Amino acid sequence: MVNWSIEEFDNLPSTQDYLKNNTSLPEGTVIRAINQSAGHGRHGRKWLAGQGNLYLSLLIKPECELDKLGQLSLLTGLAVANIMPDNAVLKWANDILIGGRKCCGILLDHENGALIIGIGVNIKSAPLDGSTFLQNHMSSEIDAKTFMTKLLESFAQYYERWQREGFETLRGEWLTKTYAHGQKISVKIGDNHVTGSFETIDMLGNLILICDKTGEIKKITSGEVFLL
Ligand code: BTN
Repeated sequence: MVNWSIEEFDNLPSTQDYLKNNTSLPEGTVIRAINQSAGHGRHGRKWLAGQGNLYLSLLIKPECELDKLGQLSLLTGLAVANIMPDNAVLKWANDILIGGRKCCGILLDHENGALIIGIGVNIKSAPLDGSTFLQNHMSSEIDAKTFMTKLLESFAQYYERWQREGFETLRGEWLTKTYAHGQKISVKIGDNHVTGSFETIDMLGNLILICDKTGEIKKITSGEVFLL
């Protein structure tokens, strides 16, 4: 099991940048900020801070080939979705949606042999960008700290399973919780869009799409999914 060592800050520009600059810290280091002034997400986007939400980054040092890191990205989504209400779904690669709206974003960076996993969860509030927050979908009270404790426990269990069993069963589990599986989607890759049906994910966590126009099977390593 990972031994978590949690450092909490009232304010940080970004928990992700903090760990990217401190990769010599031991595996299991967790940086949490109550408030982030320069949080960022994938595709160069900002991750805005809201009252009562969770911002944290985990430092992991997996002994595996670089191409397996995509598996850990999906595993993280699974570990988070698993402690959310049953209607939480995984949108490839690693967004979590509830009621069709984003509630959690995950960002992975690989630096000096260390993996930094940044997780932002809207717990008590959501920015005005169409996203949602967890409390809105729960009958009991939840706060960021309690959610963090559950998240670290869930991640440690999934991570241990991945080390012991590999990705195959986790891949199956991921597919049962995914958004738009088997449906028509459009994937934005850079400035281009590819449309087709979302067939599956492969053993490295790539999205496998059957293209509308050509019927060709396309492997997508990075992009943003939209339901058509
Ligand atoms: C995304 O959906 O684009 C990923 C968002 C990741 C946000 C988290 S909040 C904690 C950590 N620190 C950051 O600056 N970003 C990640």
